[in-house]
Amino acid sequence: MGSDNVIVVQAIQKEFGTKKVVRAVSLTVHKGEIFALLGPNGAGKTTLLKMMTTLLRPDAGSITLNGFNTVTQSRQARHQFSVTNQAAAIDQDLSARENLRLFGRLNGLSAKASRFRADELLTDFDLSQSADQTLATFSGGMRRRLDLAVSLVGRPQILFLDEPTTGLDPRTRTQMWHATQKLVNSGSTVFLTTQYLEEADQYANRIALIDHGALIASGTPNDLKKQVGGQQLQITIANPQQVVQAQKICAAVLEQTVQLNGQTIVGPLKGIDGPPVTELLTRLQLAGISISKLQLAPPSLDDVFLKMTVGKN
Ligand SMILES: Nc1ncnc2c1ncn2[C@@H]1O[C@H](COP(=O)(O)OP(=O)(O)OP(=O)(O)O)[C@@H](O)[C@H]1O
Ligand SMILES: [Mg+2]
Repeated sequence: MGSDNVIVVQAIQKEFGTKKVVRAVSLTVHKGEIFALLGPNGAGKTTLLKMMTTLLRPDAGSITLNGFNTVTQSRQARHQFSVTNQAAAIDQDLSARENLRLFGRLNGLSAKASRFRADELLTDFDLSQSADQTLATFSGGMRRRLDLAVSLVGRPQILFLDEPTTGLDPRTRTQMWHATQKLVNSGSTVFLTTQYLEEADQYANRIALIDHGALIASGTPNDLKKQVGGQQLQITIANPQQVVQAQKICAAVLEQTVQLNGQTIVGPLKGIDGPPVTELLTRLQLAGISISKLQLAPPSLDDVFLKMTVGKN
């Protein structure tokens, strides 16, 4: 095993009562990666993360963090990471700046270094303007930004985040991702869970998909898309009255079910050859249906997820 394998999860299992919540999941996370664990509600993401952060004991299998076993060497394993949940330790009566400086000191930074680090994080998370207010005046989004900032104070080697961007506005999400990337650029490794496929696609180096507790696929976003293959055809119908008729024609020509997204019909193309598209346009024209937009796009992670989870429910 190379020393590049910062997190190694081997055949991990967890049952609650008779319910198998995590089934023989194995995965490896390399140094300097952003690794995203994706899956629908109840898939077992948080349970897996709790086992990785020593909060929950696996029924079988093993997890090592920088080589330390989370069960038999839990104290050393805990020294390897930071996790956002520990933000509960933030003091409500202190300002954001004071909290960050305090955490800096608790993390062993000198007074000067903790002042510097606090200012740096306040800037990164756009909290400089409100740095000296007490937390009672903070909005939910500001609080979440501070939570993440606090977990970054000690520049953890491994950072675990459970749905870091859920419920945040787009600008705050982007800030969270940029701060995470900055940490990774300085050599840390990030393991996070998310339900936002587009975000994982854009920011994660590698992704694992879990469903009903089992790992169903893993790889780079491009690897996963290649497994699905083909391009996606998107046709926007000009007249809303004709959308249903157009959808039937598309399904017939493409020989598969196609999705409807407003007035846009979305369907996979088998291969990248032109004939089905040409035939489709001819058929639509013959039916007197005009289109306002036509687009070919690579498959999205949504397609990957739908395809991989099909028939498993
Ligand atoms: N302490 C517990 N006791 C019993 N069942 C539990 C416990 N914790 C979780 N579960 C069950 O295990 C399954 C997986 O839960 P988990 O929280 O890991 O899912 P998740 O993927 O994080 O979902 P979400 O996207 O909603 O956060 C769910 O069916 C949940 O009800
Ligand atoms: Mg969860």
